[in-house]
Amino acid sequence: MSASDDNVKDVPSDNHEEGHGNGSIGFVILFFVVGLIGSLLTGWVLFPKLLYSQKEQPIDFNHQIHMDAVSDGCESCHFFREDGSFSGVPTIAQCIECHEEAQTEDPNEIKLVQEYIANGEEVPWLVYARQPDCVFFSHAAHKEMDCTTCHGDIGHSENLKTYEENRLTGYSRDIWGHNIGGFKKNTWDRMKMDDCAECHERETGSKGPCFQCHK
Ligand code: HEC
Ligand code: HEC
Ligand code: HEC
Ligand code: HEC
Ligand code: HEC
Repeated sequence: MSASDDNVKDVPSDNHEEGHGNGSIGFVILFFVVGLIGSLLTGWVLFPKLLYSQKEQPIDFNHQIHMDAVSDGCESCHFFREDGSFSGVPTIAQCIECHEEAQTEDPNEIKLVQEYIANGEEVPWLVYARQPDCVFFSHAAHKEMDCTTCHGDIGHSENLKTYEENRLTGYSRDIWGHNIGGFKKNTWDRMKMDDCAECHERETGSKGPCFQCHK
């Protein structure tokens, strides 16, 4: 009570001291803002860098130019077999018909021909969407859906993005989520258990039993 009375009296009578008070409040605010920016930078910029290790694909692959070269669109390389299973990542046999010999000076094409096709070796592609071993996923059940829903528009990209591996879990960042804060803007930003279950509940009315996805 008496302290606030003192303040009321002080403020109009001592301009000099008021100015000084504002100055230190300003300094405290500045200190706080600098601290906040510092921790945000650590959290949003530095932390992801520490948490994820970056791996380049063995060969960069341009989806866009291949969409003009192939005749069956995506299915020329990613197709469902007669038994309903999904072919997934293309094998080297699917590249040979057009890349038996290098047709360009492109270092990626030369690497493809010299290191893999010539030696009959598969390209060790890194799969962004790779789930942990305990998870069962089959494209057959998701056949009617647009690839973009889960993968984003990789099918029309000109470069393969860098693969990011979570150092703690060993899982791909596409599973673990692109936003460190856990926000999801697009359906393909994250593919964790809750993200699968969220769509299952919406589409089928139930999250489904554990053994549906964990065999
Ligand atoms: C000429 C062959 C070819 C064609 C045609 C093609 N792709 Fe691919 N695709 C590849 C190769 C090679 C990769 C690299 C493998 C990887 O990312 O691990 C790939 C990777 C992908 C991936 C990444 C999977 C992951 O999680 O790593 C997606 C998604 C994909 N393709 C979708 C498409 C879509 C959609 C189309 C049609 C618009 C398409 N592709 C057409 C060869 C092809
Ligand atoms: C139907 C024919 C066809 C098939 C099948 C095909 N390619 Fe190609 N590929 C092309 C053509 C055409 C080009 C462009 C050549 C040019 O630039 O003139 C090309 C270019 C490339 C390049 C050079 C990249 C660049 O950015 O210019 C790479 C690397 C490549 N292909 C990888 C692959 C791989 C890996 C596969 C198998 C998964 C594959 N291709 C299958 C036709 C094909
Ligand atoms: C409902 C989500 C979903 C849809 C829709 C979907 N995918 Fe996938 N895709 C995944 C998941 C999850 C994986 C990882 C599977 C695993 O680790 O066993 C995957 C893996 C892949 C791979 C890597 C190889 C493999 O089979 O593991 C390719 C290539 C691929 N998808 C292409 C496609 C294409 C092309 C389409 C559209 C025809 C498509 N996907 C539609 C979720 C989806
Ligand atoms: C965009 C929506 C969507 C997403 C995302 C999705 N699913 Fe599904 N999933 C479905 C639908 C719809 C069905 C039911 C298909 C049917 O009944 O024919 C289904 C069915 C399944 C089935 C049952 C298939 C079978 O053969 O019994 C499994 C397993 C499954 N999903 C696993 C997953 C996993 C794991 C993920 C996440 C990595 C996932 N799904 C993400 C929509 C989705
Ligand atoms: C719609 C498919 C789906 C269903 C249903 C589901 N899960 Fe999962 N689960 C996943 C996926 C995908 C992952 C891997 C990504 C993650 O950790 O979120 C996972 C991961 C897990 C993990 C962590 C394993 C690890 O290595 O990180 C546990 C534990 C787990 N699930 C338990 C359960 C239990 C218990 C249930 C039943 C209440 C259940 N799950 C139902 C899809 C499913």
